[in-house]
Amino acid sequence: MRYYGAKTKLIPFIEQIVKTTGINGTSSFVDLFAGTTSVGRHFKKLGYTVYSNDILEFSYALSKTYIELNKQPEFKKLKKYLNIIKNDNQLIFDYLNNLNDLTEGFIFESYSPNGGRKYFTDKNALKIDTLRLLFHQWRASNYSNELEYYYLITSLLRAVNLISNVSGTYGAYLKTWDKRALNPLKLEQVDIISSTTKNKAFKKDANELIKEIRPDLLYLDPPYNSRQYASNYFILELIAEGWFEIPPKIYGKTGMREYEHQKSKYSSKINALNALEELILNASKSKYILLSYNNEGIIPHISLINALERVGEVETFTENHKRYKSVNQTIKDPQLTLELDLGVPHTSRGFRTNLFILYTSQSKQKGFSLQPQTLNYFKRVA
Ligand SMILES: C[S@@+](CC[C@H](N)C(=O)[O-])C[C@H]1O[C@@H](n2cnc3c(N)ncnc32)[C@H](O)[C@@H]1O
Repeated sequence: MRYYGAKTKLIPFIEQIVKTTGINGTSSFVDLFAGTTSVGRHFKKLGYTVYSNDILEFSYALSKTYIELNKQPEFKKLKKYLNIIKNDNQLIFDYLNNLNDLTEGFIFESYSPNGGRKYFTDKNALKIDTLRLLFHQWRASNYSNELEYYYLITSLLRAVNLISNVSGTYGAYLKTWDKRALNPLKLEQVDIISSTTKNKAFKKDANELIKEIRPDLLYLDPPYNSRQYASNYFILELIAEGWFEIPPKIYGKTGMREYEHQKSKYSSKINALNALEELILNASKSKYILLSYNNEGIIPHISLINALERVGEVETFTENHKRYKSVNQTIKDPQLTLELDLGVPHTSRGFRTNLFILYTSQSKQKGFSLQPQTLNYFKRVA
């Protein structure tokens, strides 16, 4: 999924540092700002018991599917309802991809040329409306259970992401159609990571959830600039939440949804440091805290270190990135620059993601002894 600040490319960096703490097996790994769930997924694969949290519903849907689900759902009731006799989930997807009777709904009315905007073609918008309504009805009539419902939503989000007429985020649509947006929307089954541990998804404010948990490893990847995720991904959020109980309020040329209730303190220059300090103080029962933060973020490096040092001893590792620019992007955006597969190289200076490790009073091990080959990869910040 295209998501700014996604840590997909930094996973080897994070894993190396986690490994050196000696915390392994089925120990708990908490990804408190999960986004695409890329980090949690990786640690689930390694066998950790993962808790995955984000304030956004679309990220919660991904966490329910990729983190909480430990095997493919069975869809027993749904198969019975659809008269599917063979025990093959692909038949549900074939049914969904071949629906002919399409229903007009909120996306067709608001985000396709029919509604005066160009996020989706009319046909794809109708498909999104039809599928989203079906998933809602199936859940309401108990044909799908909660995890099956989120699995279907995840499949829809993935499909939508591939045919959206945007350059990276949903803050605006493109004036002309991107080739990808003209492809027909197609649902696919989702790969599930099998696991025997009790992994769990949450949708809470990080500063609240932290008061309820005592992780072995706490991974923090808060937003680091003032762009709100709720506004930049509002269409994914709308699709995940649905529009069936209360019609969403939208405004302006782009059809932005009202998102006041989802604003993050971490994307506010005035509030970010206070929020992080409060979080760190309440996280002192974790054995290790790992914090990723961009060197161009809104909290200055020295303030971060001071906040972390109130709870324990801190070491800093850094990973450099070249600045990239996505194809249709007009402004330089350090968070989009991690999407190397999407972007084309752009000149100018690089930026860094720092990974801070905090040894709390619960930590047994302090200080790293990285192997010589990894020392070439990581640079300790003096
Ligand atoms: C830098 S992104 C995380 C990216 C993620 N590590 C990945 O690889 O996709 C930050 C995330 O924090 C979430 N967020 C912002 N404020 C939050 C809060 N107060 N509590 C929980 N999540 C929050 C945002 O919705 C966003 O998904």
